[in-house]
Amino acid sequence: MKAIMLAGGKGTRLRPLTIHTPKPIVPIFERPFLHYQLDLLKRVPEIDEVILSLNYQPRRIEEIFGDGSEANIAIRYVVEPAPLGTGGAIRYAGDTLRESVVVFNGDVMTSVDLPAVIRLHRERKAKATIVLTPVDNPSAYGLVETDANNNILRFLEKPNPDEITCNTINAGIYILEPETFERIPKDTPWSIERSFFPSLIERGETFVAYTDPGYWIDIGTPEKYTQVHRDIMDGRFKTPPFSGAPGEVWVSPQARVDEGAVLVGPCFIDEGAVVKQGATIGAYSVIGRQCHVEEHALVERSIVWANSRISQDAIVRDSILGRHTHIGRSAVVTDDAVLGDKSVVTDFSKL
Ligand code: GDD
Ligand code: MG
Repeated sequence: MKAIMLAGGKGTRLRPLTIHTPKPIVPIFERPFLHYQLDLLKRVPEIDEVILSLNYQPRRIEEIFGDGSEANIAIRYVVEPAPLGTGGAIRYAGDTLRESVVVFNGDVMTSVDLPAVIRLHRERKAKATIVLTPVDNPSAYGLVETDANNNILRFLEKPNPDEITCNTINAGIYILEPETFERIPKDTPWSIERSFFPSLIERGETFVAYTDPGYWIDIGTPEKYTQVHRDIMDGRFKTPPFSGAPGEVWVSPQARVDEGAVLVGPCFIDEGAVVKQGATIGAYSVIGRQCHVEEHALVERSIVWANSRISQDAIVRDSILGRHTHIGRSAVVTDDAVLGDKSVVTDFSKL
């Protein structure tokens, strides 16, 4: 069985972070995001190859994952000549497939029981099975209505407020039958959500929902990107290096925390980072590889990507800083600031 991972979006809502780092490889702590999805796919022994469907900065992704031998699962890359949308990308990547295929949106983090979804798909002999998750506000997602037997009655992408009739949405995980791919026009941008799924309902085909009550998040915005880190630190999503114990302080053995520095859990300090005397790393902070936090600086509820420097007496709060960022002395960066790679905030500036 093959899996197709849709990872070709530009990640516009995560800009400026995604200018130099495509969304599938933004780091969650120290690991590129896609690793967490591969972990989930590896729980299905039947899946013997993952096809990464790409078009935005594909080389950056290939450099990290190669043929998959390090991640322990075979990986193949299919790069569209131009973005084909979610449906077009599935057709382009899956044209030669003949057996059921698992399709994943490349930006969702979940603990769904994938083997159970595949079992349901087979039991029901479905043309398509999709995973649903409950959310507070479905407007940014694909709204999915079902009947008591898990048949899908309606699929409405990005509903208007007056169209919201339930709280279950498309979680971006599907089992599909490749025989249906012929209906997707070749080499034209086409949306699986707006065209393919509604057409299954119109044709009265077996289109089934698996509702998963467990952890699920789309990391596509700075708020959600921050949230996923908090959820891991708080144990709502269990994954190393955090054990799920409250207030855990995780410091790499290769980091240097000087005497007189204060670390407030939960927080994460990656290898090669240096935290100087009098500096404070507050709760829900992530300090990337080779970062320097200098004397009496304060970092709180913020994510700092690798190779950045927070100078003496600076304050970084509720923010995300890209790689190689320089925050000058006594500068203040707060209130959901998101700074792209190589940003420079000069001494005493306030953002
Ligand atoms: N290869 C390729 N080509 N991939 C693409 C393209 C494309 O043209 N466009 C988008 N993708 C990938 C993105 O990289 C992402 O992983 C996935 O397809 C979904 O695209 P998003 O842009 O993140 O869509 P969304 O978050 O607004 O909505 C989708 O996901 C929701 C769940 O997170 C829809 O599937 C919704 O129905 C769903 O609820
Ligand atoms: Mg998304």
